[in-house]
Amino acid sequence: METKHIKLSIDNGIATLCFDMENEKVNKLSQEVLKEFQVLLENIKTNQSIKILLITSAKDNIFIAGADISEIKQMNDEHDIYNVVISVDAVFNDLEQLPFPSIAVINGACMGGGLELALACTYRLATSEPKTKIALPEVKLGIFPGFGGTQRLPKLIGLINALDLILTGKTIDAKKAFRLGLVDKYFAQGHIEFRTQEFVDAVLNKKLKERKKPLRAMEYFGFTREIIFKKAKDNLTQKVHPDFKGPHKALELIKDSFGSNLQEGVEKEARAFAHLAITPESKNLIDLFFISEEIKKDFKNTPFDSKIEKTAIIGNGVMGKGIIWLFSKYASDVRIKLRKLEQVEGILNATSKLYSYFVKTRKLTKKEVDFKLNKLSYTSTFNGFKLIDFAIEAIVENSEQKIATYKELENNLNNDAIIASNTSSISINSLSESLTYKQRFLGVHFFNPVNKMPLVEVIPSKYTSQEVIAQSFEFLRRCGKMPILVGDCAGFLVNRVLLPYINEAGFILEKGNTIVSIDHTLKEFGMPMGAFTLADEVGIDVGYKVACILEEAYGERMKVSQVLKMAHNDLKLLGKKAGKGFYIHNKKGETVVNLDIAKNLQGNAGIATQKEIINRVIFIMINEASRCLEEGIIQKVTHLDFAMIAGTGFPAFRGGLLKYADDVGIDYIVDKLETYKGLFGSRFTPSELLYKLKKEKKTFYTGEALWKQ
Ligand code: NAI
Repeated sequence: METKHIKLSIDNGIATLCFDMENEKVNKLSQEVLKEFQVLLENIKTNQSIKILLITSAKDNIFIAGADISEIKQMNDEHDIYNVVISVDAVFNDLEQLPFPSIAVINGACMGGGLELALACTYRLATSEPKTKIALPEVKLGIFPGFGGTQRLPKLIGLINALDLILTGKTIDAKKAFRLGLVDKYFAQGHIEFRTQEFVDAVLNKKLKERKKPLRAMEYFGFTREIIFKKAKDNLTQKVHPDFKGPHKALELIKDSFGSNLQEGVEKEARAFAHLAITPESKNLIDLFFISEEIKKDFKNTPFDSKIEKTAIIGNGVMGKGIIWLFSKYASDVRIKLRKLEQVEGILNATSKLYSYFVKTRKLTKKEVDFKLNKLSYTSTFNGFKLIDFAIEAIVENSEQKIATYKELENNLNNDAIIASNTSSISINSLSESLTYKQRFLGVHFFNPVNKMPLVEVIPSKYTSQEVIAQSFEFLRRCGKMPILVGDCAGFLVNRVLLPYINEAGFILEKGNTIVSIDHTLKEFGMPMGAFTLADEVGIDVGYKVACILEEAYGERMKVSQVLKMAHNDLKLLGKKAGKGFYIHNKKGETVVNLDIAKNLQGNAGIATQKEIINRVIFIMINEASRCLEEGIIQKVTHLDFAMIAGTGFPAFRGGLLKYADDVGIDYIVDKLETYKGLFGSRFTPSELLYKLKKEKKTFYTGEALWKQ
């Protein structure tokens, strides 16, 4: 039989179905691939000569990456989705019911639908290479496993472990999968042929040793099982917003279907999946997946070879230390310019601390960490800088000091080495004026904490060469980051749009609402933390400095709130790092409101409702974001939305700041901004772009032509 995506071979009673999707880098379970799989299963199930089936992949790094998400994206009818899912369930059921055993040989990523296919096999083998990643990541797309995963996984590895994997979408390696009982054997890729043959022989000769199954007493008794579900629910309620529906619905389903026979459970799963997949929250999260895929392609196909290997860092405070760790993980050399040699110990401690998580979770061995730490070298002069390809400055936010640093760098680097600044607010164009070789300078703005935040704003000056931008993008991607191109202005994109959020919360507080009620309202909306918690996390000194720079640049509409001024200038509060800001922070991480703030406010001019709080802080951000589009600070609305989610934690299930604006309605936003302008001042003056969108009856997602005019 002629097939396109899956090759069947039969040798000595061993059938192999090898996935190798045509014209694709990865294997995906598209409708076409599944149809082919079904026909092949139909074909082999009556072949008396077959004793065992192997399922393999011909792709280098992938077993099966999952379902074809673009197909899910296109479907909008619950009934259609249900029918598609049920038809896939029938295929996996056929696989499970084959008259001979089946083995999934997993060598590469085995995700989502790929893992659900493997779960329908009798056995699973996996290679121990880092590329072999095993997960059910569907909750990250606002859905849950829909091809039997929520039913087969708990049966195989127990309720507690299955809930952990399904509700978090976390990725595990082969060793962990083996420990959980998800795979039956794991081995190095080099041993794949003989270890698979050995396993096949053991199955065929009935010599396979039964593995001792861990005790699962908790889930067998109704009372203790209830405790498991309650704990999982409490955990979700605490950590996951209710509108981020995937994990909540998965938990409900697993609870409801636990103990059902497989067919009943799978049917319930299909029904709940179809219902969930058409919700706006799921659609938003799926759209975001495609936006992030699109962003990954920016500056990908340029004629410039990758060059950055040897790096240097100047400034080793909060950000510098994070960058040192990052570069030690991904670059070949990391040269650190110190002011005092005594700083070495602090740097080593901070870097080792960031690596300890990787050792604990077995993502890196101690030896590998030592190897990475050995890449660090130190100088109190600029000795060795002639070899450097990429030097980044993360010293204090002060133009004169930064410019003096670039002078020293230009004296000590080769002329073609890239110089980057991690400034969070100073104009890149103004900084670049002092340089002799301006084309090699740009802003590379990491977010805090560097080890956790994927976003990096790349800000070229008007002189920066395309090669320097492309090289920087390539290197940052190699470091596991998501760089986006942003135009030069005070605060760049994310801080410029975010600052009004903190400021507006300050204005609301001045009028009489409490810190706790404002923060609580913002968290309920889906922000990862309220504005005052955020100010404490960032550091009130840092926030205040940025706020002043933005006020200077944008005038009245970014006027620093009295509350922030008072916290910084009068109360000398620093935030969490000093244990005291808008909240008092103790060592256990608990917080209570700092009453000194309230004592200094006499606001009772009218308490804002929850809705007004949300409208004021979010609409003022939308207004600023629309100005960034108008000014060309960012080209695409999708990029802006992605940046606000990745850089500030704007709730992903809302699709992004401007997707939220479109959903709320441009007319409503403009009307509200005008009302607030009358009540609270000119900072709420709607942008020209908002007026244009309103006039042309367009949204941010349909009105691109209006800011590209
Ligand atoms: P920090 O105050 O923690 O560290 C600054 C470091 O630079 C200190 O170790 C100091 O000793 C050193 N330094 C000061 N002047 C120097 C000089 N002339 N030569 C060499 N080293 C010098 O500051 P942080 O927070 O690490 O910020 C550094 C840069 O990163 C700033 O431009 C800031 O705007 C930017 N940034 C900060 C973020 C944050 O959340 N803290 C986020 C993103 C960017």
